[in-house]
Amino acid sequence: MDTNSLVAGKGIERLENARINVTVGVLETECLEHHKRFFTVQNTKRPYIILKWAQTKDGFIAPISKDEQKPVWISNQYSQQLVHKWRSEEHAILVGTNTVVADNPKLNVRSWSGNNPVRVVLDANCRLDKNVNVFDGSVETLVLVDSRNKKQEIRQNLIFEQIDFSENIANQICEVLQKHKIQSVIIEGGSQTLQTFIDENIWDEARVFTSEVSFESGVVAPQFSANVFSEEKIKNDSLRIYRND
Ligand SMILES: NC(=O)c1ccc[n+]([C@@H]2O[C@H](COP(=O)([O-])OP(=O)(O)OC[C@H]3O[C@@H](n4cnc5c(N)ncnc54)[C@H](OP(=O)(O)O)[C@@H]3O)[C@@H](O)[C@H]2O)c1
Repeated sequence: MDTNSLVAGKGIERLENARINVTVGVLETECLEHHKRFFTVQNTKRPYIILKWAQTKDGFIAPISKDEQKPVWISNQYSQQLVHKWRSEEHAILVGTNTVVADNPKLNVRSWSGNNPVRVVLDANCRLDKNVNVFDGSVETLVLVDSRNKKQEIRQNLIFEQIDFSENIANQICEVLQKHKIQSVIIEGGSQTLQTFIDENIWDEARVFTSEVSFESGVVAPQFSANVFSEEKIKNDSLRIYRND
């Protein structure tokens, strides 16, 4: 990437004209990594996209059914805390409709300190109950409804946007996020929503926890292939980070 072009070469020129010695390329790899969100927005006109999920060792992200409207935890508490740190580092967090129905998540930062990301929720057919946590108005929330549905009433901190759910939606979601000047988004499921971004090849990183538990059946984890960028153990969970190079 030509980092000079991002300031159109003018920054260096102005410094040099002011007789300041300029050295370029210092810690270039580290700087590119640190500014990856900004560069992605500049170069691709969409936010930096991180896919994240936790899967059992036999490849499921949730059991087929459960008794309560809250998540069945697959990863351990340290992995979960790390996810809250990650949430605090991104501009937005996105989930699909079934995840809201199944888990009623808050999608905020609780086990870490930092800003809550903007919540982005898919609700094509306006089937989410108005009392779910993501509609509580505590955090700015974008709700993406199908263009055949009329825009919803205005409620505190809720913004309804329309997209055409019969077409490829990942690209349209990115356009909405771009409109709201969102620089990065962590997509936390469920499987269909994650697979949508994989299939449209619109993602930058996938962060996948694999635990030691098995479900034998359930909601199948997203399917993809990519190079492993890093791998570590979080106690008994394994965390693999993939990059879409
Ligand atoms: N282990 C984990 O990391 C993790 C994380 C999150 C969720 N989960 C689990 O995942 C399960 C839900 O996953 P899921 O795959 O069933 O659902 P999901 O991805 O949460 O939501 C799917 C729904 O979102 C809408 N949608 C998503 N992609 C679409 C597309 N390309 N085109 C049109 N509509 C689209 C559709 O809504 P309509 O049906 O209204 O059209 C679809 O039914 C839950 O059991 C939850 O507990 C696990």
